Amino acid sequence: MYGLVNKAIQEMVCDHYGAETWKAIKTIAETEADNFISLESYPDDLTHRLVKSASQVLQRSTADIMEDFGKYWVEFTGQEGYGEMMDLAGNDLPEFLDNLDDLHSRLGVIFPKMQPPSFQCSDQQLNTLNLHYYSHRQGMAPMVSGLLEGLGERFTTCVEVTQTQDREQGADHDVFSVTYQR
Ligand code: HEM
Repeated sequence: MYGLVNKAIQEMVCDHYGAETWKAIKTIAETEADNFISLESYPDDLTHRLVKSASQVLQRSTADIMEDFGKYWVEFTGQEGYGEMMDLAGNDLPEFLDNLDDLHSRLGVIFPKMQPPSFQCSDQQLNTLNLHYYSHRQGMAPMVSGLLEGLGERFTTCVEVTQTQDREQGADHDVFSVTYQR
């Protein structure tokens, strides 16, 4: 994945646990990189190693780390200069979720080698919808729960998320039931 992702993991750990903890995580992940270059593409395996090592050092499950990371990502990308692109993607949570694929296609201009996720909304009612998540990668679903939490904060909207279909359990793709209230 692009360095921007690894950089966000680094900043999240440093912000929440300090630089020494990050050093320990990096050692276990066997990476020498001092700084990740946002626009350079790195092997997915490195990102997975960083998450696994963080899980070991922080004594938390990889799913918990991914969920925290998803939440952090919304704030982080806003600060890294992508806030305007997110502004363009919608004025409230359901509109924004409907535009996630457009957002990632626009990002494809900046990150040409990106393998973006794909999202689809269905069964939309007044305060609920189902969010379908399709990915080239395995094991990223907890990140989506965290992303939805982060987006709730962005739109000052109370969000409840339940995963109702899980690829890890043999489903064709992941589905999240999202309930929201402004
Ligand atoms: C402007 C803000 C955003 C930027 C700059 C951004 C950029 C990226 C980048 C660079 C990747 C790595 C893909 C690769 O290297 O192949 C990625 C992956 C991902 N993004 Fe975004 N993204 C943004 C917002 C969002 C939001 C709001 C969501 C909410 C659902 C989201 C969901 C994901 C997911 C789930 C992945 C994991 C990739 C996978 O499933 O394979 N992103 N994004």
